[in-house]
Amino acid sequence: MPTQKFYFAALLRYSEQSNFKQKRGSKKLMKTVTTKANANIALIKYWGKQDERLFLPTKSSLSFTLPKLITTTTVSISSSDRDEVLINQKKNPAAEKNIIRFLDIFRKLHNIKDHFVVNSTNSFPTAAGLASSASGFAALARGLNELCKLNLSNKELSILARRGSGSACRSIHSGFVLWQKGKEACGSDSYAEKIFDSSHWPEFRILVAIVDKKAKKIKSRLGMQQTQLDDCYKEWIQKSEIRINEMITAIGQRDIDKVGKLAEEDCLEMHDCIKHADPPIDYWQEGTREIVQKIKKLRERGIPCYFTIDAGPNVKIITLEKYVETIKKELCVEIF
Ligand code: PMV
Repeated sequence: MPTQKFYFAALLRYSEQSNFKQKRGSKKLMKTVTTKANANIALIKYWGKQDERLFLPTKSSLSFTLPKLITTTTVSISSSDRDEVLINQKKNPAAEKNIIRFLDIFRKLHNIKDHFVVNSTNSFPTAAGLASSASGFAALARGLNELCKLNLSNKELSILARRGSGSACRSIHSGFVLWQKGKEACGSDSYAEKIFDSSHWPEFRILVAIVDKKAKKIKSRLGMQQTQLDDCYKEWIQKSEIRINEMITAIGQRDIDKVGKLAEEDCLEMHDCIKHADPPIDYWQEGTREIVQKIKKLRERGIPCYFTIDAGPNVKIITLEKYVETIKKELCVEIF
C-alpha cells in the first residue's frame, strides 16, 4: 500500500535530476504547438500559501484528474515584443495578467527572450471553481516546453505549472495525484505525482453539478490571502495532513464511502476556514446548499454519493459509474 513516506522517498530521488536550463541546448524553436491538459478536483484540498511568490502550499493535497474537463492551448512565438492572450477566443484581462506573469517567470527561468501568442479554450465553464486555471496552466506549461524544446520531465513540468496556479501542478498527471507540499524553501520538492492510475479504480467518478456558470467573484488567490491564519485554519491543516494518508488507504481499497466521507469532511472544514476570512467569504449559493441536501437524501436511499466544493458555487459529486444516471435524474441540474 503506498504511503506518504514512500512517495517522499521517491520525490527525493527525483530531485537529484539535472536543472531546467541545461536541457534547452541550441535547438531551433518550433513555430506553433497545441497541447491539452485536464482539470483536477481535490479530494483533500489546497488552500493557502506559505510562499506567495513561489506558490508553495501550507499543506499537501490530493486530487483526481477529470477526463472530460479539458483545456486545449495553442502557443506560438510572437512576431512582436509583447505577449498576446486569448481565452475561449476572447480577450480576458484578468486571466491575461496572470498568464503574462507566468510567461515572465518562464522566460526568466529558461533565459528566453521571445514573446508568445497563447490561445486557450476550455471545454467547460471558465473560472467558476471548476479548476480551469489548473488545466490552463498545465496545458500552457506543456505547450511552452514543446515549443521551446526544453524536454522537461513531469516533475519539472509540475513545478513549472505550479508557478501559474498551485493546483495546476496536479493537472500534469491523470488519475489520483498527490501534491507534496515539500520542505525546500526554493520549492524544488513541491510538485505532484500520480499515486494511482485511473485504471486502478475504473468505476470511480467525479461529476460536476452546475449551479452557476459565471466566473467566481473572489479568485482563489485572493480568497487564500484573506483566509485568517487562526486556530480554525491551523486545526484544519493538521487534520488534513492526517486525512491524506487515510485517503490514500481508502483509494487503495476502492472504498467509495470512506473516500467520500473524508473528502466531505475536508471540504467542509476548508469552507469553515474561508468563512472566517477577513472580510468573510462564502463561495456557496442557495443552489449549492440545495444540491448538498439532495446528495445527503440520495445517500440515505443507499446511493453512495458525496460532495466536494471549491472556490465557487458548483458541486462536485463523488460516486461510482453505476450510480451516475440515477444521480443525474434525481438532481435535475446540468451535469458534466
Ligand atoms: O490553484 P488555485 O489557486 O486555483 O487554487 C485551488 C484551490 C481549490 O480549488 C479550492 C482547492 C484545490 O486543491 O484545488
